Amino acid sequence: MTETLKLTDVSHDYGHGDLRVRALDGVSLTVRAGELIAVMGPSGSGKSTLLGIAGGMEHPSIGEVIVDGTPLRSLNAQALAAVRRRSIGFIFQNYNLIPILTVLENVAVPLELDDWPRARALKTSRQALAEFGLLEVADSYPENLSGGQQQRVAIARATAGSPRLILADEPTGALDSITGESIVRLIRERVDAGAAAIVATHDARLAAWADRVLTLEDGHLYATTEMQR
Ligand SMILES: Nc1ncnc2c1ncn2[C@@H]1O[C@H](COP(=O)(O)OP(=O)(O)O)[C@@H](O)[C@H]1O
Ligand SMILES: [Mg+2]
Repeated sequence: MTETLKLTDVSHDYGHGDLRVRALDGVSLTVRAGELIAVMGPSGSGKSTLLGIAGGMEHPSIGEVIVDGTPLRSLNAQALAAVRRRSIGFIFQNYNLIPILTVLENVAVPLELDDWPRARALKTSRQALAEFGLLEVADSYPENLSGGQQQRVAIARATAGSPRLILADEPTGALDSITGESIVRLIRERVDAGAAAIVATHDARLAAWADRVLTLEDGHLYATTEMQR
């Protein structure tokens, strides 16, 4: 299977001198197309740092990140931004929807930023909303939706352009467990359709949807289990 994401000996520090914090320490990880990885670990263990570095939001202090065969460090800022827009879908705990845009417009934004013609961006966004059972709220504003609906919109936005890599940072953290499970099922469907995904979560039940469960502890990544699916 294609190696969609490959981290090799990645370490990352914040701050300098006495204030230096090593957030990741010697992390290596390969995620293939069709694979969903759950990363568990307490607050402060490095989950968000791992996802940010996997998604090219920042370069690691040490080590290499390869997305779809391209070492991210080899790219200039513009090319890196293009890889992030085209190949990577981010999902956050707090949804990060734009309040002054409708649901449909929110989903269309990344496609339009990627220079899709507006009509095509809106058509594809409508299709994504329909798939997620959200067509009836397409013209609503985020504040009028439940948390679960907002997160489904955020997933539609993150996946409408069929990114190869999905990175979700505690996507169910603000939701009740039944809604949370429906959210992870949506990510699972995108993975079964060929994406690769990493989901950072506290919730052991959600990890049951993963092919592999890894644990971060003080920046060290440990293999936990091969799930039987
Ligand atoms: N911007 C930052 N500046 C300084 N330290 C940070 C920053 N972001 C995270 N850290 C530190 O790095 C470590 C890992 O944080 P983080 O990746 O957010 O963990 P998690 O997502 O598992 O809670 C923690 O010790 C945290 O305090
Ligand atoms: Mg975090």
